[in-house]
Amino acid sequence: MCGIVGYVGEETGAKDIILGGLKSLEYRGYDSAGIAMICDKKIVTKKKVGVISNLEKIIGDPEFDSNIGIGHTRWATHGVPSDLNAHPHCNMDNTVAVVHNGIIENYMEIKEELLRDHDITFKSETDSEVIAHLIGVYYDECGDLHDAVTKATKRMRGTYAIVVMSSKEPDKIIGVRKDAPLVAGIGKGCNFLASDIPAFLKYSGQVYFIENNEIVVVTKDEIKIYDEDKKEIHRDVFHVTWDVDAAEKAGYEHFMLKEIHEQPIGIEETLTRRLTDSGEINLDGISMTKEDIEKFDKIYIVACGTAYHAGLVGKYAIEKMAKITVETDVASEFRYRDPLIDEKTLFIAISQSGETQDTLQALRLAKSKGARVLSVVNVIGSSVARESDDVFYTWAGPEIAVASTKAYTTQLVCMYLIALYMARTKGTIDNAYYDRMITELKNIPEKLEMIFSQEKDIEKIAEEFHRNNEIFFIGRGVDSTVSLEGSLKLKEISYINSFAIAAGELKHGTIALVENGTLFFALATQDSLTEKMGSNIEEIKARGAYVISIAKEGNELISNLSDRCIFIPKCADEVSPLLTVVPLQIFAYYVAKFRGCNIDKPKNLAKSVTVE
Ligand code: F6R
Repeated sequence: MCGIVGYVGEETGAKDIILGGLKSLEYRGYDSAGIAMICDKKIVTKKKVGVISNLEKIIGDPEFDSNIGIGHTRWATHGVPSDLNAHPHCNMDNTVAVVHNGIIENYMEIKEELLRDHDITFKSETDSEVIAHLIGVYYDECGDLHDAVTKATKRMRGTYAIVVMSSKEPDKIIGVRKDAPLVAGIGKGCNFLASDIPAFLKYSGQVYFIENNEIVVVTKDEIKIYDEDKKEIHRDVFHVTWDVDAAEKAGYEHFMLKEIHEQPIGIEETLTRRLTDSGEINLDGISMTKEDIEKFDKIYIVACGTAYHAGLVGKYAIEKMAKITVETDVASEFRYRDPLIDEKTLFIAISQSGETQDTLQALRLAKSKGARVLSVVNVIGSSVARESDDVFYTWAGPEIAVASTKAYTTQLVCMYLIALYMARTKGTIDNAYYDRMITELKNIPEKLEMIFSQEKDIEKIAEEFHRNNEIFFIGRGVDSTVSLEGSLKLKEISYINSFAIAAGELKHGTIALVENGTLFFALATQDSLTEKMGSNIEEIKARGAYVISIAKEGNELISNLSDRCIFIPKCADEVSPLLTVVPLQIFAYYVAKFRGCNIDKPKNLAKSVTVE
């Protein structure tokens, strides 16, 4: 949420570089955009509500350019999306400009003080504007931008990544972060600050990760990182191994479709990184010992949205294989329910971005109470990764579409590997079972290609049903968790009211909604539950429902009972979610396409939810 780009270089050209950077951050979600540059020793700011092309229309003037500037895409929290509320925000005499991602919780208190003691006039309804005025006031007192920023951040409570520049020190941009992402990029004759690496990857693959409460001072020649007491900090450079192409569409119409098709490779990569040639799971870089694993008497898996759904599958896998009690919870609930945590607790956080505020705060709570923290994360060096005791990376590559697809399936792979590793260590599974599961996992990429060969058929089903106003998803066992994910995928990109429920729960209330033509997806991939699912399908069909089922090849019981059946290749029940979810992702994608929706950037959603 909110994207920040700051640039300082030798020559003019900041405008296009910043605009390009903002476009690379569009995936984070935004409702307005703005840019400020120092032109002829003065700060000039342009901002516009809506998409970045709206901003582009008002900054065409070639005179409006510089060698230094800051840009921002805003996702509204305080104040409606509007030109005035868009960032950058400036102080009264227009000598300080600020972009901000996050929320300043005590902004009212600071605002009242600025109104009372300094007669400041505010132009926007945002919390962020107070930062510009506060830094302006402190600058007037001390005459040094670094000191003014340090002093201001000591007053601010909440979450923030900010980038600041001043026309009085036109050679630098200064950034500071607390619980919101900020990275610095080392360019040639120029340097960058941004919310995420894709913003400057075209120019630099050498990155410094900025830590909480650090202040980074960036000129065209150098990047210096300081602590709150102005003591310089040494930081190793991180070298990015993926390239710009990996973050582009490679001929697909949408990132989401590209990412759906990248699942075989993401799964293979995630497996390869953790499996030796002989099929053993290696925990390189993870410090958890056999004794640690034997000590755990409870596991919490905590995450949000799609990552939470991956956690539900993780619960099935760990309980079934490693025989340890697992509770999976949404992070925003976990934080506020006094969970029972001690040194015997393993806390697993799952997050694609590694920046989700609720997940991060839940992790901190668990850590403060003595839990061991293992995270499953896609973005290397993200906050969740850095604050965990151990990290099990998913190797999905950059996920740009807001709707998560390849992150989910690679998260599942990690959960299976964690479950198998624990089970092996505890001796709760035998070698034959272990070997069978590893083979099952290794076969998934090939089986996914078989599902992709049915893409046209799924597209036709989507065309037929895209006008439906309501769709239900049901399943039993691990299928019930995949039905939650199928339903979320559909609602978030097509805006169809969809609802997922455990099939056995239907008759306890929800079945009241079934009438002639009500559309159901029935997930029936679990061999041991086929007959039970068959009964559930009969129950809804008897009330007029139209049923599209998903079942394993050759499951005639289910296909005969259903109006339509999409087959997945045969596999062990345990790993079926890796296959079952894919037709649902494809269905959601085409439904959204037939409805003319903004697939990669659905309304109201952000890729990285860095506020509570
Ligand atoms: C849905 C989706 C979200 C995220 C959730 C957590 O498609 O993408 O539900 O899964 O916001 O995000 P991460 O995994 O970045 O913590």
